[in-house]
Amino acid sequence: MILAIESSCDDSSLALLKINTLELVYHKKISQESEHNLFGGVVPELAARLHTKALPNLVDEVKEYFNDIKAVAVTNEPGLSVSLIGGVSMAKTLSMGLKVPLIPVNHLVGHIYSLFLDSKARFPMGVLLVSGGHTMVLEIDEDKNIEILASTSDDSFGESFDKVAKMLGLGYPGGSIVADYATKSTNKNRFKFPIPLLGDKRLEYSFSGLKNAVRLAIQKIDNISESDISDICFAFENAACLHIMDKLKRIFDEKKFKVFGVVGGASANLNLRSRLNELCQRHNAELLMAPLEFCSDNAFMIARAAREKYLQGNFIDYNEIQINPRSVLNKA
Ligand code: KG4
Ligand code: ZN
Repeated sequence: MILAIESSCDDSSLALLKINTLELVYHKKISQESEHNLFGGVVPELAARLHTKALPNLVDEVKEYFNDIKAVAVTNEPGLSVSLIGGVSMAKTLSMGLKVPLIPVNHLVGHIYSLFLDSKARFPMGVLLVSGGHTMVLEIDEDKNIEILASTSDDSFGESFDKVAKMLGLGYPGGSIVADYATKSTNKNRFKFPIPLLGDKRLEYSFSGLKNAVRLAIQKIDNISESDISDICFAFENAACLHIMDKLKRIFDEKKFKVFGVVGGASANLNLRSRLNELCQRHNAELLMAPLEFCSDNAFMIARAAREKYLQGNFIDYNEIQINPRSVLNKA
């Protein structure tokens, strides 16, 4: 089996995956959300310290499987440098100690393989990647080459939810909290936020203007109530999803995808999922979504991506592995 480690941001996670059957033998994630919640976002130094504490505990839980491990995989790019270092150091040590090869995995490629956790990977396909760090539309060809068709020029989709949650004092991470509030809105027409870059020919995302429009609306309200919050969250979520869909519709008209996948922590957003479902139905495209449990960062997807590299004998010497906080995405 492959032992995989994910520690690119604020989750320490470890998975054991059987190489031949794709059976998940062990998976655990120690989230740092409650610790970062106090600060309204991820504090890198705190994240690093918590990974250093959590990772050895996770390794300790799988000691009984050490003899069955054929390779150690780890996220080495992109992410917070101090967080990546924790996982990579642990993976190097395990690879040396267990005398098995080391497999570096790109975190975003890991998210792509969350679509194929228990099945054979199949390309070509289009992918929408929406997380706390990224918003991208990708085209992946049959040889797994990746072309980025659109990305964001400022905040990411998930990050904009986190920032709106912070402005409303709702805690971190904000995605699911804002989405929950949105479902409770009783006055859906009260706020109208501008859909970013509407009518603009550029295939590009931008969420900072929308975030500022939300900030101005909040500033105008004295003693904000739960129902004000719900109405704001509804209008914000709608504008953010419409922005994603506006550009995506144009891409679909041009690309004629037969298969389209949505991945990343923010792909758990149900409003977005249902809009994507409609778009794919209209274009006769098959929509693939990761199981809700494995949309956000996890080591299962890293193990699954590493398994492809294992089968190709694509390893790296532990003296040569590098972390790469801002990597380029070119191959799945
Ligand atoms: O992929 P992920 O776990 O971490 C990164 O690689 O960034 O994504 C986390 C992001 C956070 O910004 C979180 O607020 C967002 O995903 N998120 C959501 C939802 N659930 C999580 N955003 C919108 N709606 C949701 N339901
Ligand atoms: Zn992620």
